[in-house]
Amino acid sequence: MDYTISVNAQTEREVKDTRAIPFGVQPTEHMFVASYKNGHWQNARITPFADITMSPLALCLHYGQTVFEGMKAFLMQDGRATIFRPDKHYERFTKSLKRMCMPEVPRGLFLEALHQLVQLDSAWIPAEDDGSLYLRPFMIASEERLGVKVSDEYLFMIVATPAYQYYAEPIKVKVETQYIRAAEGGTGATKCGGNYGGAFYPTQLAREQGYDQVIWTDAKNHEYIEESGTMNLMFVIDGAIITPSLSGTTLDGVTRDSLLAIAEQKGIQTDVRPLRYREIQEALESGKRVEAFGAGTAAVIAPIKSIAMDGREYDCYLGEDALMYQLKNELFRIRRGLAPDRNNWNYII
Ligand code: COI
Repeated sequence: MDYTISVNAQTEREVKDTRAIPFGVQPTEHMFVASYKNGHWQNARITPFADITMSPLALCLHYGQTVFEGMKAFLMQDGRATIFRPDKHYERFTKSLKRMCMPEVPRGLFLEALHQLVQLDSAWIPAEDDGSLYLRPFMIASEERLGVKVSDEYLFMIVATPAYQYYAEPIKVKVETQYIRAAEGGTGATKCGGNYGGAFYPTQLAREQGYDQVIWTDAKNHEYIEESGTMNLMFVIDGAIITPSLSGTTLDGVTRDSLLAIAEQKGIQTDVRPLRYREIQEALESGKRVEAFGAGTAAVIAPIKSIAMDGREYDCYLGEDALMYQLKNELFRIRRGLAPDRNNWNYII
C-alpha cells in the first residue's frame, strides 16, 4: 500500500505550558486520521486537531468495537525526539484488533503516521525529566448501522498529549475479590475500550473506600493476582522481581516487558509465574521488606504504599534504595539517550 500521508499543518504554532494540566486533557496541534472503506485504508492525513463528526448510528457508539494503544515519545539529551518501542506497541495493537474483528493497520503506515505526527508536534514534547509526549493510536468502528455486526468501516487515528507523572504520590490499592476485570477466553489481553469501562464501577467503589486503584484477581477463585486498572503489577521480595505471568486475561505491558529485560541484563533475578495474593500477604506478615509497584506506559512506575487484603492494610517498602527506583532511572536513562540502548528500543525521529 501507499503510505503517503497528506499534511495540512497549522500555520500558527502555539505550544501551551502543560505541566499543571491533568493527564490527557491538552492535545497537541495535530492529529492523524485514516479511513477504512471497501476493504482498504485510504485518505491518510495529518490535520489540525479538531472534533470529528460521526453518525449516531456508528457501530462503535453502540457495541464498543474500539481498540487503543498508549505509547510515548521523549526528548533525548541531544535534542532529538524518540518514540519508545513502537514495534512492540504495534504488535499488541494488531493482536487487539484481531480479537475485536477489526482490520490490521499496515506496520509501515502505523510507523510513518507516528513519525510524522511526532516530528510535526515535537515542540510539544516536554523537556522536563518527568515529561513525555503521550501518543494514543486508536481505532473505532464507524459504519452507520444499528444491526449487531462487525463493522465494514473504521477510523484509525493518533492523537498526542503532553504527559507528566500519572500518579503524583505513591498509591494505596486494595485486592479486589468480588468483581472481576477479565475471565479466561474473554478480552482481558486486549486493549479494547470495554475493558476500561467495565472496570470503572469497582474502581469507583474502591475510591470511595479511600483507595486509588484495585488489584484484580482471577475470575475463578479470586486467588491469583492479575493486574491493576492502568498497569501491570510487580513486587520485589528478597531482592527478586516477582510478577504474574501473562495468563491471557492480562495485558502484555510494554513497560513490564522493558523492566524485566533491564532487570535480567543487570543480573537481577526475575520470577514470572502465577502469583497468589496470599503469598504477598505472607511475606508482609513475616516482616519481609516488600516493594510493590505498577508498571505501565502512562504510569511508568507507580510505587504502591499500601495494599489492603482480606480487610487488613499492609505497608510496602518505599525507601530511597528501593529497586523500583533504580529500574525507573535506568529506563529513563535509556529513553533520554543517557545509557546505551542495547535492545534498540528507541525509534529516533
Ligand atoms: C497506558 O498506560 O497507556 C494506558 O493505556 C493506561 C491508561 C492511561 C488508560
